Amino acid sequence: MKKTILSGMRPTGELHLGNLYGALKNWVKLQQDDSYERFYFVADWHALTTGFDASEEIPQKTLNMVIDWLAFGLDEEKNTIFVQSLVKEHAELFLLLSMITPVGWLERVPSYKDQIAQLGKAKTSNYGFLGYPVLMAADIIIYKAHLVPVGLDQVAHLEFTRELVRHFNHLVGRDVFIEPQPLLTEVPKILGLDGRKMSKSYDNAIYLSDSEEETQKKIRVMFTDPRRKRKTDPGVAEECGVFMLHKIFTPKDKQEEIKDACSKAQIGCVECKRLLVKNLNEALSPIRENRNRLLNDKDTVKQILIDGSKKASQKAKETMEEVRDAIFSNSRLG
Ligand code: TRP
Ligand code: SF4
Repeated sequence: MKKTILSGMRPTGELHLGNLYGALKNWVKLQQDDSYERFYFVADWHALTTGFDASEEIPQKTLNMVIDWLAFGLDEEKNTIFVQSLVKEHAELFLLLSMITPVGWLERVPSYKDQIAQLGKAKTSNYGFLGYPVLMAADIIIYKAHLVPVGLDQVAHLEFTRELVRHFNHLVGRDVFIEPQPLLTEVPKILGLDGRKMSKSYDNAIYLSDSEEETQKKIRVMFTDPRRKRKTDPGVAEECGVFMLHKIFTPKDKQEEIKDACSKAQIGCVECKRLLVKNLNEALSPIRENRNRLLNDKDTVKQILIDGSKKASQKAKETMEEVRDAIFSNSRLG
């Protein structure tokens, strides 16, 4: 039996370098391994938990995000790529799980309080937001996923899922679901233009959708090591956001050279950035071409999502048969 990998992203629209060389790079790497079946989906219902006011943007953002997935090399032949809201079984499982989820567990999930603090009461005082981890659990266990490639920020949600699986299996007296494990993969640190973590919400990101000129302009104003106030001041490349990008886009030997030259004030930040722009734009060029091609062929992208969602539905339907059977023909519950 093949093991199953599953992951999802909320539809944020165009992806930036942090998304691409973090999560997506791992998804693409995983597609080399034939011992797994893989599902990747757009969590569009999750986007509604805090963003109902902008719900009309979700279809466009879904499409643009998936275009970036495909352009970056996620292969629809090797992975089932789908949209959460096109597989209604997620909603049924979410509903059933909600009947056995203690509210206290949800209030204790760390992101619950964090998000309320960050986004304010107006966006987070709905029942669906409280239930975010239940929907996420449904997304995962409906495919009986073994591994879930996610970032550290999602580990608490995975732990919640595991707890809920144990609780459900115990209540129905059958091992319907398996406990998924997070697949934590090393991701490079990528800083935004202002030296904070690269993030759409900080407005400090470089996007695949940026032109070469835009990319150049952005890097020109990017924060560098503050030790290098003048060109003659030595710096520490490892602490500079520009160098963190060199680590992705520049050959190893040249990286070493830059690090050394930076520490001896033998290279200026302007020159260092010029090299980065060249390497970065070169690396992104074929990916940007893919992107432009897909942008002109949105029907194909939509069809990929429809086909993927149909495939996902088949598996989800099978699981739901088992779930209904476990709940409604169970002598312990009935
Ligand atoms: N919560 C995830 C995030 O914000 C998105 C998500 C929803 C997800 N359902 C999932 C990720 C299931 C992995 C598996 O990034
Ligand atoms: Fe950063 Fe390069 Fe300037 Fe060093 S030379 S501080 S690595 S931009």
